[in-house]
Amino acid sequence: MEALFSTYSLEWLNLLLRWLHVITGIAWIGASFYFVWLDHAIKPPKPGSDLEKKGVAGELWAVHGGGFYHPQKYLIAPKELPEKLHWFKWEAYSTWLSGFALLWVVYYCNASAMMIDQSVVQLSSLQAIGIGLATLVVGWTVYDLLCRSPLGQHDLAFGGVIYLFIVATAYVLSSYLSGRATYIHIGAMIGTIMVANVLMVIIPGQRKMVDAMLRGEQPDAIHGKRAKQRSVHNNYFTLPVLFIMISNHYAMTYAHAYHWLVLAGIMAAGVMIRHFFNLKHKGRIVWAYPAIGIVLLLAVAITIAPQPRLKQHTDASTFSLVQNVIAQRCVSCHSAQPTQEGFAAAPGGVMLHAPALLRQHADKVYQQAVQLKAMPIGNLTHITDEERAIIGAWYESGAR
Ligand code: HEC
Repeated sequence: MEALFSTYSLEWLNLLLRWLHVITGIAWIGASFYFVWLDHAIKPPKPGSDLEKKGVAGELWAVHGGGFYHPQKYLIAPKELPEKLHWFKWEAYSTWLSGFALLWVVYYCNASAMMIDQSVVQLSSLQAIGIGLATLVVGWTVYDLLCRSPLGQHDLAFGGVIYLFIVATAYVLSSYLSGRATYIHIGAMIGTIMVANVLMVIIPGQRKMVDAMLRGEQPDAIHGKRAKQRSVHNNYFTLPVLFIMISNHYAMTYAHAYHWLVLAGIMAAGVMIRHFFNLKHKGRIVWAYPAIGIVLLLAVAITIAPQPRLKQHTDASTFSLVQNVIAQRCVSCHSAQPTQEGFAAAPGGVMLHAPALLRQHADKVYQQAVQLKAMPIGNLTHITDEERAIIGAWYESGAR
């Protein structure tokens, strides 16, 4: 009873944190997309105009929600600082905080099901969690060192190296953690880099500029340059990271035998598509980039498509065999009252404890347990290949 209660509470914590995480994530990425767009869309004021004399480098008129807006951009800083200055930082911080708490609730509180894959390697929960946390620390450390190295000055080369680093990390993680946990930790690692950029580089740099101005000195432009470098990186990280955050709904990606390569392909597609929009904001339309992105996505989709299988012949006894397999390997989680520790309700609303339910969910059962081998999650209940074949034969002969 007590265990059930705590699992149920965790489920609510999961819901509330996820809700918060999505909201803060929208606020953060929304604001950052807006500023990227604004930066490209503003035009220098008319020569000799009052704005130019005030030191405005660019301006824009926009209409939104019943009002007219007239943002102006000052290069480095205005001559006089306003009394009230809004800092965009809590959008990023609260996204990380809610995301990290969610990682804890979903993955670390239930590591045996969510992080460990019995068919990959036997780890203790503590080991799996340690690997997860280490990924975040190592990711930021390597990224930050690379940024400060001479390589950091060459955007394209830097992008290539950091991409390879991320893919290599996914490859290494894939030999320790489940596909799902590998994906989410790559996402969390990139997200951590993005937020650390705000916390450790962008905001401190801006603060130094403001402090210099308050002392009546000319702020050092190097802070602006450093902040710019990091915010360009963050911009290209956004689409890959957002894919990873929703990837957990798509076992066809993370449960594939080469899921780290699938991830590499989809991330690259995201970067290409982002690049297209960055150029478009500047008034350059280069269709080659989204075309490469779409070709990459198509290539991934075709490569991971399930193979058609031969039609099998079975008799009435097969269904009772299937029922046995499901009862032993699935029902501990997929029933009205799961007996598996850590599960308060049937995951995904899928219940399999009665013959009618099993027939009702036959397509999904086949997809998850036979095609993708994504279920049982982490193979916690030790299904065998023969048992998967029994489900396969039953489904392919008409799922009766
Ligand atoms: C240890 C608990 C556990 C066991 C055992 C288990 N599952 Fe699941 N199952 C889950 C979880 C957790 C999810 C939700 C996954 C998600 O969020 O995408 C899930 C989701 C599913 C879904 C829904 C997928 C979707 O995309 O809607 C199906 C179908 C499924 N499982 C089938 C099975 C079958 C068949 C078995 C037995 C061979 C099985 N599961 C064994 C935990 C389990």
